[in-house]
Amino acid sequence: MLKPRRDSAPRQDDLATPLLAWYDRHHRSLPWRSPPGAKPMDPYRVWLSEIMLQQTTVPAVIPYFLKFTARWPRVQDLAAAETDEVTAAWAGLGYYARARNLHKCAQVVSTQFDGVFPDSEAELLKLPGVGAYTAAAIAAIAFDKPAAVLDGNIERVLARVFAVETPLPKAKPELRVLAARVTPDNRPGDFAQAMMDLGATICTPRNPDCLLCPLAQLCAGRRLGVAGELPRKAPKASRPVRHAIAFLLQRDDGAVLLRRRPPKGLLGGMLEVPSTPWREEAWQNAEAATHAPVQIDWQPVDLAAEHVFTHFALKIGAVYGRIGAGEAATVDGIWEQPRDAALPTVMRKMLGLLPRDGRPVRSTRNRRGGQGRP
Ligand code: ADE
Repeated sequence: MLKPRRDSAPRQDDLATPLLAWYDRHHRSLPWRSPPGAKPMDPYRVWLSEIMLQQTTVPAVIPYFLKFTARWPRVQDLAAAETDEVTAAWAGLGYYARARNLHKCAQVVSTQFDGVFPDSEAELLKLPGVGAYTAAAIAAIAFDKPAAVLDGNIERVLARVFAVETPLPKAKPELRVLAARVTPDNRPGDFAQAMMDLGATICTPRNPDCLLCPLAQLCAGRRLGVAGELPRKAPKASRPVRHAIAFLLQRDDGAVLLRRRPPKGLLGGMLEVPSTPWREEAWQNAEAATHAPVQIDWQPVDLAAEHVFTHFALKIGAVYGRIGAGEAATVDGIWEQPRDAALPTVMRKMLGLLPRDGRPVRSTRNRRGGQGRP
């Protein structure tokens, strides 16, 4: 006779068997992924995708992943690129420290590891830009090691299956223990990706589709009627607001003035639209003008934009100026056609405030409810 279970918490096999069977049929086909049960993808591609997927969605990453792998098919190719080429190709993906670390990591793997990624979590963790999550994900997905992978999707699935009531982020150590407990020795790479797919497609943050879930029978959150409310979250501190005025300076041929940001810090090394310092107090145009790249008759732009960074939201106003080629040659900076410039999203939003017809915008109302033109 089967011994009765002392607790009703699911065990390792309970999750892995139905989850892998579900993954075999319903996995997402992604360009950095091998089919279920197949030999893992080249570790370079797994690493590249995992760095890109940190804080960025799958649909946003796909075109960048395809562009990077077409241009730099091997880690040595990426290592040999100029840092500026890599950050320019990264423009629009956000969190630009990732691009600089990506390039550094490619150089370390290329020179110190002869182009071969290490296969242990401990060695992977030493690489630039590779934290605990990424090391575990690469070990599992590229090398099929039973590493406990824990990203936002997997945290949600585990919190629900085990009815973890502790709020995030305090619940993380508990969820890490659960992740290790449920990770199987057989197909751990597929298991990690199956957990990610389940979290992304069925066990979604709002309205999980429990009727289609392969883990529904053993889900404690579902049994208790709280699945959709988990994981609980500690209330967030509100995000501070900063203000900037962008100086949209346009040359007669349409090129705009840009500058290169300092190599370290937020958006380090990226191109920027010149602007006032970003500060908590709102700017008056007259005071803002003292920070202008050139003293000309700046026209107010009656549109605004907003960009949300992790630690603050930036409210962006703008002023507009136009100068001839002769005068432009005396201004420090880089002149580029707005369309051609490899700019981070916040800077694209600033250029979105450029008057469409090349004339200053002078309506009395804010026509776009605070959002810049795309
Ligand atoms: N998010 C982070 N890593 C991922 C992966 N390998 N597949 C799908 N989504 C992911």
